[in-house]
Order: sequence, then C-alpha cells, then structure tokens
Amino acid sequence: MAVRQVLRMGDARLLERAQPVLDFGAPGLQELLIDMRDTMAALQGAGLAAPQIGVGLQVVIFGVERNLRYPEAEAVPETVLINPVLTSLDDEIDEAWEGCLSVPGMRGLVPRHRHVRYRGFDAEGKPIDRSVSGFHARVVQHEVDHLFGVLYPMRIRDLRQFGFSEVLFPGRDVTLDD
Ligand code: NI
Repeated sequence: MAVRQVLRMGDARLLERAQPVLDFGAPGLQELLIDMRDTMAALQGAGLAAPQIGVGLQVVIFGVERNLRYPEAEAVPETVLINPVLTSLDDEIDEAWEGCLSVPGMRGLVPRHRHVRYRGFDAEGKPIDRSVSGFHARVVQHEVDHLFGVLYPMRIRDLRQFGFSEVLFPGRDVTLDD
C-alpha cells in the first residue's frame, strides 16, 4: 500500500482518455485500488480517479461519510466504479462548488446534472447500476469526467466563480476535495 503522488492541473496525463479495464483478475488492479484508497484517505478526498495518479484506466473511487462540518453534503457510499457509463435522467442542472485534488486550494461553481444513472463494475467485476441525485450525482460526474480528460474548471460557466478556497470561504475549514 502506498500514498501516490496526485498529478496537478497542467500535467498532460490528466487530459487523456482512460482505457477500459479488461481483466478484473489482474493483481495490478487490486494494488491500484489499494493505492487509490490510501491516497484518497491521506488527502481527505471525496473521490479519486486512476488518471490522477498517472494510471490511464477507467477506475474511480468515491465515498463521503456524513460529516458535521459539511451538513449540506449527503453521505455517499464507498464505491469502486470501473468502466463506468453515465447517463443523465432529465434536463435538470444544479450548480455547486467543487474542488479537486488535482487543483489544490481552489474552488469553482460547476453545473452538473441533478439526476444521473451510472453503470459499471465493482472491484470483483460485479455489475453496478444506480440512479442517484444531488451530491452523489455530482461526485460521480466529477470523477467520470477525469476518465475523459476533463477537469472541473473546464465546466465552470462564469470564471468569476472560481478562486482560492481560503479567499472564497474565509474561516471555513475547507478540506473536502475530489
Ligand atoms: Ni477531481
């Protein structure tokens, strides 16, 4: 197990499309997942995509415990999602503040679909099929974007709504990143 270095915006590897996982039994996959969990936990992230640690595979992890510091953030179950397919369930869009471990210290106001369905596979290759809303839907969309080389600043509609966390939210302990 190891905490891996997270690539930061500007690294060309964050702009590449990730490849699907073909062999769920490969030992490298379980090692990758352990490293991703360790890295996400060490950095207090809400999620992490494999390309963020330089691995160009369609693997994301996410999960948020209910936290009194973030009463607005609903709990999101700890999830390993491989080869995801994401579809919006309607045209409703929400805007909310996001951060990213690859864009440390920043926050931006990002539009996302309110309701999405995601399908894919867990760490053992068993199918996942969930329809989710709100914060859960936002976290999934953020992580799956990483698999297509998209970072959240690319989705900000008004770049005046992008800045440093400690300036935007003075006095608030802002550590929730994904
Ligand atoms: Ni991110």
